[in-house]
Amino acid sequence: MPQATQADQADDTVASAPTTGGAASATAPDVTVDTVLTEASRRRSFAVISHPDAGKSTLTEALALHAKAIREAGRADGKTGKRTVSDWMDMEQARGISITSAALQFTYRDAVINLVDTPGHADFSEDTYRVLSAVDAAVMLVDAAKGLEAQTMKLFAVCKHRGIPLITVINKWDRPGKDALELMDEIQERTGLVPTPLTWPVGIGGDFRGVVDRRDGRYIRFTRTDGGKTIAPEEVMTPEEALEREGDAWTTATEESELLEASGADHDQETFLAGQTTPVLFGSAVQNFGVHALLDVLVDVAPSPAPRPTVSGTTRPVEAPFSAFVFKMQAGMDTAHRDRLAFARICSGVFERGMVVTSARTGRPFATKYAQQVFGRERTIVDHAYPGDVVGLVNAANLRVGDTLYLDKSVEYPPLPTFAPEHFAVMRAKDVSRYKQFQRGVMQLGAEGVVQVLRSDLRGDQAPVLAAVGPMQFEVAEHRMATEFNSPVTLDRLQYEIALRTTPEWIDQLNAQLGVEVLQREDGEHLALFPDRWRVTSVRNRLPDAVLEPLVAT
Ligand code: G4P
Repeated sequence: MPQATQADQADDTVASAPTTGGAASATAPDVTVDTVLTEASRRRSFAVISHPDAGKSTLTEALALHAKAIREAGRADGKTGKRTVSDWMDMEQARGISITSAALQFTYRDAVINLVDTPGHADFSEDTYRVLSAVDAAVMLVDAAKGLEAQTMKLFAVCKHRGIPLITVINKWDRPGKDALELMDEIQERTGLVPTPLTWPVGIGGDFRGVVDRRDGRYIRFTRTDGGKTIAPEEVMTPEEALEREGDAWTTATEESELLEASGADHDQETFLAGQTTPVLFGSAVQNFGVHALLDVLVDVAPSPAPRPTVSGTTRPVEAPFSAFVFKMQAGMDTAHRDRLAFARICSGVFERGMVVTSARTGRPFATKYAQQVFGRERTIVDHAYPGDVVGLVNAANLRVGDTLYLDKSVEYPPLPTFAPEHFAVMRAKDVSRYKQFQRGVMQLGAEGVVQVLRSDLRGDQAPVLAAVGPMQFEVAEHRMATEFNSPVTLDRLQYEIALRTTPEWIDQLNAQLGVEVLQREDGEHLALFPDRWRVTSVRNRLPDAVLEPLVAT
């Protein structure tokens, strides 16, 4: 089907949204192509990637504080929220983890910023990878004392693979850490990205006084506030004033900045967007230092939504009729309402609450009667949304992670990445009379991507195998089966560690090998499970023609 272009729709409207009728239907004025283009160009949608404890939550709060979305830091994580605390949130709090992915939207200058939250724990990295398919840029947050840590490197590899431009923030400069130039070397050596600092710290780690803005040479001096609860005042000074004020610390900073200039480490928009360079900023999220600069950089250099590739090989322009894809499902966020939210990233057109869209997978209509923006425990109703925005669609029981939704002109976006699971467990209902609840729960957990669900005729539907990237996913599944689906379960770990893709004609021969088992995943893929790589080698030797391929992220 030919794609809409700006030219052929110039005076047209992009969404003549049919409505569901009833109280929630929206009869908003039609929105023109120009409006969609303008709104899309204002959007900056990004995620923060980091190793746990690098300060992602603190930075998120600081960004929200700066955007005046909240008045006092500390609220965004829900610590002081008054909403009903669900079992789900209980579990998150007890474990000190964040699983509920959502997006924080705020305006800054003339831009609309969408910060899409990612779970902090490595066990939920599959969720994080899915979030990364919903953003246009990422902020790589690095702890100044620790440098590039394991999870940061993993997530960096995904950004690179997907061509997501990266902005780097060196955090915790208020504490003793590595040398700034050493950190630049580390970034370059380990990621291959050329760091192009936009700011450079004045004062070593632990003696953070301010930064040189390398674009105009001015000094931005920070002032501490009580516990970082309010925006840190910034004083802008000329180089002469800075020298007088900071003495040697200023001289060192400017000398290092000149060294960087001589080595070609200045920001270049083209190489940044091509994923070859990364602008670097220094800050202290806990003190709110450097957060302002990050927001400015997001507005000035981060990309706005671009035409998105579809499965048919074309791209869907942002001004085409509405389209979006579901990158995250979330249930049980509020015990008072057993609702199910599908978080969708809008790729084109305008979203108007009440519009009836089509699910590309089923061809069935989906009425967007209720749509919300969710951040922590804060929920707000969304009436309109544009490319780059994330909306939480309520009553989304029939949607699955990866589903494309569209209006008028059909489109399907590529499937979201799935990962090679490394942990496996058989799940059984404790109370067999609750088989219906058990089945419903298993289906839902699979649809949400909480775990991958594998089956075989041998094991039967009473004992599906759950496959996970990290074992904490099992805890979530077990907890939700008991509390949400009223079907307490037992989980018995299996001794497999490696899953390889195979094809149906090899099932019998592979099943006949000692310690090997073939199961089918919900997407139809057949996975051969092995206890270790030695077994893989021996089976490969015995069945040299067998299809055994690594499962890689798409
Ligand atoms: P995460 O989401 O990436 O896991 O990290 P989080 O923001 O929870 O921060 C981890 C710890 O690092 C927290 O300390 C936080 O206060 C601290 N932190 C974050 N940014 C900075 C910074 O710029 N400078 C310094 N010095 N510390 C920072 P905590 O002791 O684990 O928790 P809390 O009691 O302070 O809340």
